[in-house]
Amino acid sequence: MTGWSAGGSFPSTMNSLENAVWSALKSVQDPEIKRDVVALEMIENLTVSGSGDVSLKLVLLTPADPLKEQFRSDVEAAIKKVSGVRSVRLELEARVRTANRGLSHQGGARAPGVSSIQGVAHIIAVSSGKGGVGKSTVAVNLATSLAREGARVGLMDTDVYGPNIPTMMGITEQPKIEKTADGKEFFIPPIAHGIKVMSMGMLIDPDQPLVWRGPMLHSVIQQFCHQVQWGNLDYLVVDMPPGTGDVQLSLAQMVPVTGAVLVTTPQEVSLQDVRKAYAMFDKVKIPIIGIAENMSYFQPDDSDKKYYIFGQGGGKLLAQKFKTELVGQFPIVMQVREGGDYGRPITVSHPEHPVSQAFGAFARRVARRIAIMSAEGIDPNQLVQIGKF
Ligand SMILES: Nc1ncnc2c1ncn2[C@@H]1O[C@H](COP(=O)(O)OP(=O)(O)OP(=O)(O)O)[C@@H](O)[C@H]1O
Ligand SMILES: [Mg+2]
Repeated sequence: MTGWSAGGSFPSTMNSLENAVWSALKSVQDPEIKRDVVALEMIENLTVSGSGDVSLKLVLLTPADPLKEQFRSDVEAAIKKVSGVRSVRLELEARVRTANRGLSHQGGARAPGVSSIQGVAHIIAVSSGKGGVGKSTVAVNLATSLAREGARVGLMDTDVYGPNIPTMMGITEQPKIEKTADGKEFFIPPIAHGIKVMSMGMLIDPDQPLVWRGPMLHSVIQQFCHQVQWGNLDYLVVDMPPGTGDVQLSLAQMVPVTGAVLVTTPQEVSLQDVRKAYAMFDKVKIPIIGIAENMSYFQPDDSDKKYYIFGQGGGKLLAQKFKTELVGQFPIVMQVREGGDYGRPITVSHPEHPVSQAFGAFARRVARRIAIMSAEGIDPNQLVQIGKF
């Protein structure tokens, strides 16, 4: 058989050229995961013609990968270096992978009662210890920025006492209720700015006070997870209520949360609360994706001077202390507040604004950190600990 491929249709020179291309591809590594693109199953449909024309598909780990262009040029360059290659035709695609190992960050096995939301690859909790630091603002702009990168995104508002998400996303309609063939009812989430959204604010009269106890909260979260037709999503962003209470625990017990983004302002009192939130997530074994520092400073339009209204450096310190990463920093900008009030997030209404760019970079970093987590269950914070970043 030597000299011919298994099908007997290609001469040996062809085979060895294809082999050489595969070997070259193995030299292209993900700089953070430290594995090559072949091992990460990022190469598909590789064909090499008799005259040395190579075509292949490069399947990124997330559509929001900040290293997209680097991968493309590294892969192209590696193939072009192979002697006998005449041209390279590369098609770029992205497929968000879930951790097929189950939940290794939760001790290798899924806790009893935890079942994933069908079709949802990753659940991202946006949380903080303290109220009013900008969780909902960060959650909304994370969702819109991920969608802008081409990801399929949902946004779940678990703040049942103060549901701001419908206002921030400009949703006034109610979710439709449909029945399955066997009579089960489920919600069809309204779509705003390309994102499927579910919130208690769509179901209740906003002027009526809501007095609920833990078990009822638990059942709302249960319904939001399992009785909403989320469809296929790459990321479901979950806006959490302030504090470290029942909702956080319910969510952790119900669905496999990929990780949490902790939002803080730079000031000490907010940081103390984030420490509490960190301890809570640690207890329920939800990894921390990173720290987002909001209201970092204010810079008037007509000046270069930055005013550090809530202090300076808090997010960075916290990230260092907990051996995680500062994944975003957002200044105080009037259009951010206006965007929230008028239902058009700044990332949608002013995508070129520097703060929208900062939200975009943050979303890409979050997506990358999740891709790292999913590649064989590596906790990205361990990479920080062992100094690989
Ligand atoms: N970077 C920012 N620049 C300007 N305004 C901001 C910024 N971040 C948040 N805000 C505004 O601050 C207020 C509080 O923000 P947000 O509702 O997002 O906080 P939260 O942490 O979700 O609050 P809660 O704890 O009540 O859920 C909102 O009016 C929002 O528009
Ligand atoms: Mg909020």
